[in-house]
Amino acid sequence: METLEAIRTRRSIRRFTPDPIDDETIDKILEMAAWAPSGRNNQPWRFVVVRDPQLKQELAQQTKYSRIIENAPVCIAVFLENEASYDRVKDIQAIGACLQNMLLAIHAMGLGAVWLGEILKNREKVEKLLGVPESCELMAVVAVGKPAEKKKRGTRNPIEQVILSRK
Ligand SMILES: Cc1cc2nc3c(=O)[nH]c(=O)nc-3n(C[C@H](O)[C@H](O)[C@H](O)COP(=O)(O)O)c2cc1C
Repeated sequence: METLEAIRTRRSIRRFTPDPIDDETIDKILEMAAWAPSGRNNQPWRFVVVRDPQLKQELAQQTKYSRIIENAPVCIAVFLENEASYDRVKDIQAIGACLQNMLLAIHAMGLGAVWLGEILKNREKVEKLLGVPESCELMAVVAVGKPAEKKKRGTRNPIEQVILSRK
């Protein structure tokens, strides 16, 4: 898929078929995510891949979007490793780039995903549940699977509305 086409046609997918996603596919997604840029190339992202149905159920309880997590064959929790951090704003920006890379790779591979942020309200509970080191801070959970919904068209503000000025 062309890069511009992938950027334009990616949409959040919230319903998935029960088809499993193999480890090789997940590794490819994580490899692409990790090619994101980061300040000083410090690569502050860390991942936990959740497939276990019981654990996924417990993860789902931490967000009002529980159905999305329950329905997804696999979820990827994305963390900021604070021990690798050198500038909090820049490191969080790098995590954002990593997440967008992840979503675009998933889309280019014919799969679907959604970035879940509402779950951050229970950040500490999720960190405990997934047993990550204390230095790791939850940034998002990405639910991944084969899409089971028709692709929506998506909406964005007209570009002229977001350009403050052309000087
Ligand atoms: C930081 C962030 C947090 C988000 N949190 C959620 C969420 O908790 N639940 C959800 O269903 N979608 C969530 N989304 C997805 C957005 O709703 C979605 O990207 C937006 O509506 C635009 O739709 P599109 O991705 O299909 O273009 C989140 C997206 C971002 C970037």
